Amino acid sequence: MTGFYRQGAALVCDGVPLAAIAATHGTPLYVYSAATIAERYRAIDAAFAGYPHSIHYALKANSTLAITRLLRSLGSHADANSGGEIDVALRAGILPSHIVFTGVGKTSAELGYAIDLGVRSINVESAGEIERIDALSGERQVRTKIAIRVNPDVDARTHPHISTGLKTNKFGIPIGDVRALVAVTRGRPNVEVVGLHAHLGSQITTMEPLARGARALVDLARELATDGVRIEHLDIGGGLGVSYDGSPVPGPAEYAAAVLPILRESGLAVVLEPGRHIMAPAGVLLTSVVDIKSGFVVMDAGMTEIIRPMMYNAFHRIEPVVVTDADPLTADIVGPLCESSDTLGKNRTVPRPRVGDLYAVLDAGAYGSVMASNYNRRLLPAEVMVEGGEARVIRRRQTLEDVLALET
Ligand code: LLP
Repeated sequence: MTGFYRQGAALVCDGVPLAAIAATHGTPLYVYSAATIAERYRAIDAAFAGYPHSIHYALKANSTLAITRLLRSLGSHADANSGGEIDVALRAGILPSHIVFTGVGKTSAELGYAIDLGVRSINVESAGEIERIDALSGERQVRTKIAIRVNPDVDARTHPHISTGLKTNKFGIPIGDVRALVAVTRGRPNVEVVGLHAHLGSQITTMEPLARGARALVDLARELATDGVRIEHLDIGGGLGVSYDGSPVPGPAEYAAAVLPILRESGLAVVLEPGRHIMAPAGVLLTSVVDIKSGFVVMDAGMTEIIRPMMYNAFHRIEPVVVTDADPLTADIVGPLCESSDTLGKNRTVPRPRVGDLYAVLDAGAYGSVMASNYNRRLLPAEVMVEGGEARVIRRRQTLEDVLALET
């Protein structure tokens, strides 16, 4: 058995008790299961086997170097959303030709960096951006591969803050404008349109929007072909969701079944950009009880360690690391920050805890650690990866010295 499960009363990660890991490394602490990351990566790869595809793991979900290296060792390529993420991909050993560069506000410095490297494609967001890439490439006397990020106006039916494929969202180029834009782009000497890209949103748990997104790209590729434009790939973005409450959700097999028959019509290679689906269930945030007061259990982790509950009203299971037979208590589980919104879980029933008890915030491997902050002068938590029965530190805990080193 891999991942996070109970052995008797104790929650373990790949067989290693989380209580032992916390005793060694302290809390708040992120703990990841290497075996789970590998399994979930391979499940997506297997679902698309038999069709030309490449998985460009979305680094934004979690780009700790050791995790990025592990994914590269499994064969993953990268979707980078900033110069920093490109750099991390390279440091993890991912080739430039295995990186797609996405992002709604790429600076000229970032574009120049990607152009110099010769990434697989820059996923462009606007006519202005194409113009800038053309000019920057011209200065360097190179031809840069771009994919048009299409906004297909498809409702991903997810939380509004993580929906990106509606025409009211800031992302991409309205689908109706793409043919004309590509026609103009063909006149530009230093860019080459090699792909079409669409990312509809995140935590998508119904396959119909994903199928509609794929349909939009395939139809557009056919129209471009009639215009004489031959592209190489269709990038269908990320978005495949996970179950945060334990109820069943579609997985890679259902995803592939929904989109592959459509993509096959095009015969074009497909690029996938999964982030959450690989990483969310592969990590937990360990936190300790620091106080108990009427209606509240106060933990040593809050919105500075995991902001998803506060920012998206996201539900994460919060469980005692060792279940006790104490009477049940129903309370809000809150963090230590001076913000009323600093609530990890509302109205949760747990065995009445004691100060010092350990809890795990489950499914925290994606968009957890990467979104942490130093608000209230709090320090970024350490990260540990369990691999082959060993727990090793992959990021040490930040110190106040680390933070203050930047200040005069
Ligand atoms: N590709 C692009 C262009 C994206 O913008 C994203 C995510 C992905 C791929 C990966 O999507 P995934 O497979 O992880 O759903 N912080 C939010 C999620 C923001 C997602 C942003 N874009 C959260 O915690 O729910």
